[in-house]
Amino acid sequence: MNIEAMPRVELRRVIEGLGAIIPVEKDISQKQQEKQTSFPNHPDQSGMIQYKNTHPKFFPPPADIAENQDKGNKVKQQSLTKAFAQIVIHQESAKKINTLSELFQKYEDCQRCALGKTRKNLVFGRGLSNATVMFLGEGPGADEDAQGEPFVGRAGRLLTKMISALGIERSDVYITNIVKCRPPENRNPTPAEISCCLPIIKQQIKILNPKLIVTLGNIPTKTLIPELPGITKARGKIQQYENWTVLPTFHPSYLLRNRSAMPLAWEDFKKIPELAFNN
Ligand code: URA
Repeated sequence: MNIEAMPRVELRRVIEGLGAIIPVEKDISQKQQEKQTSFPNHPDQSGMIQYKNTHPKFFPPPADIAENQDKGNKVKQQSLTKAFAQIVIHQESAKKINTLSELFQKYEDCQRCALGKTRKNLVFGRGLSNATVMFLGEGPGADEDAQGEPFVGRAGRLLTKMISALGIERSDVYITNIVKCRPPENRNPTPAEISCCLPIIKQQIKILNPKLIVTLGNIPTKTLIPELPGITKARGKIQQYENWTVLPTFHPSYLLRNRSAMPLAWEDFKKIPELAFNN
């Protein structure tokens, strides 16, 4: 039986049906009731008759037993409602995600790691939903955290300029980061934070299915392809991550600090149009 695909009405019917055959956790009042009804119908030491069969057809149950039966039914009802709610939640999360906006909805309130507590905005990604090139940075800084958009600070302005210098609009590409929430004090994301975010970027890549992924700096490059050497050696050389072509290059923040690396980065950037647009 495929519970995940089952419509809710049918699901509720199945769960309620299960309730009839599966013993539901007993509460204390039910246990007391069992104790009271487990004696045969003959006098106990005190000389009083204990009623074993309390079905109203045989004996009208004494008031306290009827009350306990009532409580038992309530517990059973509550357990079934809880089971139903849990399966509906599971159904929701098992829904197939086909678009970036569905993926965003799934993770917009993400608290998978501690960065969820300190972020202002989750910076999911921005750009064309069928872009042929994805730029992949490290993680949001203060400006990105405040605006909920990747690469909008100083490094972002440089990246935008470099993209336009190729004759491409920023709005024609897709830009995102390995981690979606700002690491405090702009520190590097930890391996644990990266692995919490990894399912998101993996799904973003699958959904977008770009012709080219440009990894900006060491962290995105080594997250996708751990066996590569550092970015100074790896940059400019075409790599493969699963089904996708990857072009590693320097991070724009590095270029702001090391202007002399700019010509090398530009060499790498000039490869983008052909790799991503075949022109
Ligand atoms: N640096 C990054 O890696 N990503 C951003 O979004 C901004 C700065």
